[in-house]
Amino acid sequence: MSQPMQAQGVYAASDDFIAGAHVNADQYAAMYADSVADPVTFWAGQARRIDWIRPFTRVKNTDFTLGQVSIKWFEDGHLNVSANCIDRHMTTRAGQTAIIWEPDDPKTPALHITYAELLENTCRMANVLKAQGVKQGDRVVIYLPMIPEAAYAMLACARLGAIHSVVFAGFSPDALANRINGCDARVVITADTAPRGGRKTALKSNADAALLNCDDRVKCLVVKHTGDQTTWVSGRDVDVKAEMAAAAPYCSYVEVGAEDPLFILYTSGSTGKPKGVVHTSGGYLVYAAMTHQMTFDYQDGDIFWCTADVGWVTGHSYIIYGPLANGATTLMFEGVPTWPDAGRFWEVCAKHKVNQFYTAPTAIRALMGQGAEWVEKHDLSSLKLLGSVGEPINPEAWNWYNTHVGKGRCPIVDTFWQTETGGHIITPLPGAIAQKPGSATKPFFGVKPVVLDPATGAEQTETATDGVLCIADSWPGQMRTLWDDHARFEEAYFSQYPGYYFTGDGCRRDADGYYWITGRVDDVINVSGHRMGTAEVESALVAHEHVAEAAVVGYPHDIKGQGIYAYVTLMNDVEPTEELRKELVKWVRTEIGPIASPDLIQWAPGLPKTRSGKIMRRILRKIAENDYGALGDTSTLADPSVVDQLIENRMNRG
Ligand code: PRX
Repeated sequence: MSQPMQAQGVYAASDDFIAGAHVNADQYAAMYADSVADPVTFWAGQARRIDWIRPFTRVKNTDFTLGQVSIKWFEDGHLNVSANCIDRHMTTRAGQTAIIWEPDDPKTPALHITYAELLENTCRMANVLKAQGVKQGDRVVIYLPMIPEAAYAMLACARLGAIHSVVFAGFSPDALANRINGCDARVVITADTAPRGGRKTALKSNADAALLNCDDRVKCLVVKHTGDQTTWVSGRDVDVKAEMAAAAPYCSYVEVGAEDPLFILYTSGSTGKPKGVVHTSGGYLVYAAMTHQMTFDYQDGDIFWCTADVGWVTGHSYIIYGPLANGATTLMFEGVPTWPDAGRFWEVCAKHKVNQFYTAPTAIRALMGQGAEWVEKHDLSSLKLLGSVGEPINPEAWNWYNTHVGKGRCPIVDTFWQTETGGHIITPLPGAIAQKPGSATKPFFGVKPVVLDPATGAEQTETATDGVLCIADSWPGQMRTLWDDHARFEEAYFSQYPGYYFTGDGCRRDADGYYWITGRVDDVINVSGHRMGTAEVESALVAHEHVAEAAVVGYPHDIKGQGIYAYVTLMNDVEPTEELRKELVKWVRTEIGPIASPDLIQWAPGLPKTRSGKIMRRILRKIAENDYGALGDTSTLADPSVVDQLIENRMNRG
């Protein structure tokens, strides 16, 4: 699934759709040309879509030169992100639903939270944070399930100018502790337990375990969501709902600089240590709002549903910040696509008359496997547009999505972007760009993609070409740095191909100038649309007392896109047993979280290494892919016989 997809035809939106769309083909061409020819004028105009407390005079001040990388947009402007997402809508939308909350259990009623209620709840939450001493610039870790309090907490931080770092509720106590310590947060907000698919995760007890490894001063704010019993540390733990009820219903917002950080979000890289991606306030919000409106062709009054979790960037930009900045109605879903049955997504679409539906290929593939009858049961006539994100969408999944969900009448926007990019950077605009299944199509405004020769770094000037995907100039949604580690930021993104932002992805550009993302070219794999560093899984494995060495690679997986394949060398005196295999899977789940569970573990008495001791991952990848006929050059191996043994005992024979 990481292979380039072949075009199976070109699909344009209907004439009616195009006529009503924000952007048509001619407008796209003209605006795109303006956006790259004169980004200062273009973005100065676009930045007016948000409210500034103090207008900016300087639009763009960016430099990709290695050693002095610096990215600033609207730098002398002042604003407040929470005021942009809530307060400014109060005159026209106070009674409009801002958030529809659909709970895990379909028998529990959904909530319709108006903009007025969102304002009050965000203010109450902000006052609770303030009472705990949170002030501008402080970091707050949010470890919550998909409940409205997650939105209140993010917006409350933004209101106070505090920096949030949302940690996906599927992460383990260790991962949580690392993230709390990584940004020196003094407050973590969590919930008692988190129901998902009828099962519960004990979030509070995970937080308790994490806090054992954190500074004693860290406060734990607990949302009593299910009411399940938890341990309570008096003096440290705070009952959020009770405090919110007692707090004042209004809290004024602070004025922050456009370049003040809005959030940190940790993501996997090619080393064992996750990277704390930093997004700032002004440029990020302009970009999230604009892409939300244009990519999804969001029209006033539409109901927008992004199925991601707020623990990922997709949830930040397209559940919270983009939609709310646009005064949209955004749906937040606590559950999973397959519980109580495989029709849940479609039931929710029908129930809330969803107009734009945005999900990941892995979910589509999983539902496709359950049969189209689950879709046919529900009235999907409200849908106008479908979206895809997180990994390349294979043509089978695209066709199923188009035929059964979209009934052949909804454009599908295949949006390519990353935690680092803040919003879509290569994506169809549905009224302007015809889709080819498997292609993210064309760049968004202001984005200058280039395809480089991976070896020489030369820019490929022909239209039809392939290579590595870089971006030649900055756009407002781009990350600014890595938390407390600007040197690593430059090293990770600007050192391989000096002068460019390196995405880490390979790509092909076809004769029509369409981009086809072919997957990561670094040691990052994409499991169910979630990014996982192979080094992270390896360091978890080698932390086990019986493991001497581990090498982790991705392999094609029908549902997940890529599965996690681990080669494990045990300590000399340890027997490789089924039990130990299970124990290691469990171990990784506890060290990182369920998303990092190895799918296959192969016992490897030896790993293929060069004479200088470097593991030859290329060979391990081939064996994991069950494609060991073409191993390429193995002459530099210290001991070539290792390879035959690994092939003989390979785990994936599919
Ligand atoms: O490899 C690309 C893949 O997901 C990576 C970014 O992962 P993350 O930062 O977790 O963000 C995921 C959601 C924005 C990229 O480097 N990716 C994302 N979207 C697509 C994609 N690959 C192909 N097509 C896409 N539409």
